[in-house]
Amino acid sequence: MTNLKGAKKILLSGVKPTGRVHIGNYFGAMKQFVEMQDEFDSYVFIADYHAVTTVQDKAKMSLGIIDVALDYLAIGLDPKKVTLFKQSDIPQVHELNWIFNCITTMPYLMRAHAYKDAEAKNKEINVGIFDYPLLMAADILLQDADVVPVGQDQKQHVEYARDTAQKFDNTFNSKIFKLPEPLILKSVETVPGTDGRKMSKSYGNVIPLFATDEEIKKAVMSIPTDSKGVEESKDPETNGIFAIHKLLLNEADKAALALRYKNGGLGYKEAKEGLIGALKAFIGPMRDRRALLASDLDHVFDILKEGGQKARNRAEKKMQEIRQTVGVEIY
Ligand code: ADP
Ligand code: TRP
Repeated sequence: MTNLKGAKKILLSGVKPTGRVHIGNYFGAMKQFVEMQDEFDSYVFIADYHAVTTVQDKAKMSLGIIDVALDYLAIGLDPKKVTLFKQSDIPQVHELNWIFNCITTMPYLMRAHAYKDAEAKNKEINVGIFDYPLLMAADILLQDADVVPVGQDQKQHVEYARDTAQKFDNTFNSKIFKLPEPLILKSVETVPGTDGRKMSKSYGNVIPLFATDEEIKKAVMSIPTDSKGVEESKDPETNGIFAIHKLLLNEADKAALALRYKNGGLGYKEAKEGLIGALKAFIGPMRDRRALLASDLDHVFDILKEGGQKARNRAEKKMQEIRQTVGVEIY
């Protein structure tokens, strides 16, 4: 994907270090980073400062950051093609975040889904949660991202980034920001968890992306089923086992399995065993790669440091333009 000048378009996305990643994160967002790494000039980061809204424990934070770095490399992101970094190596995002704070109204931020959800649940809302969309806008706009691959639940945040870019340029009569596009795979808008709700760390219904064989079995066995017998026809569209299994199949195999559900003869025990086998085959090799990477953390740190340097240089260049536009750069 190139622009008019023939340069590759810029892709940027991030994942928070808030716990083990699951197959919903992978199919909804992370897989796309890998598939698009040749086509785009890609910037993929660990959103550690976003995680401070909820992770307020030194060890958890440090281990979480290392985990996401290992996850990125284990799923196949190639540091020669992708700039991998951690958000906290780019202090310029906070400088831009402040400027965005000053051109954004409170009622506008109060419309954010994440804020409204937290409020509806009567949660204690810290200022970081409230301001979360603007820190994310700073991540995206500082790197001049064209596309932002995310799951459906992050679409609104990318819209906030677009709105904020326009608000800035209207306010300062400038034209310095690109309008980023969210990139959401139609086929996997939301991956369901083992209980049928959205797969999410906060619901405890996940299949970890690097699950052990034991964990895979336990998670699949917990998917609820109705009392239909082996020979009865089953609707694949509403079946919780099929909803996950189909993610691991090509179109032909998906259609063939759907037919087996419809025709009858496929019992839930066999269906679950099939899913367990498919998950083991998919997860096993990635898990091995991850273990190997974890045995040389210095190498992983070098990758992050180098990526951080590159992303920071780009951010500083953009920030100089922004400071000039705002009028604080007087000498
Ligand atoms: P979680 O809800 O488990 O805390 P995050 O909010 O950390 O997940 O999401 C990280 C990325 O994974 C985001 O781009 C998000 O849109 C995507 N994602 C999370 N859960 C799902 C899901 N169940 N289906 C599809 N994408 C998802
Ligand atoms: N908010 C994203 C999430 O919860 C993480 C994130 C932070 C992000 N900054 C970003 C994603 C910039 C894409 C682009 O998953």
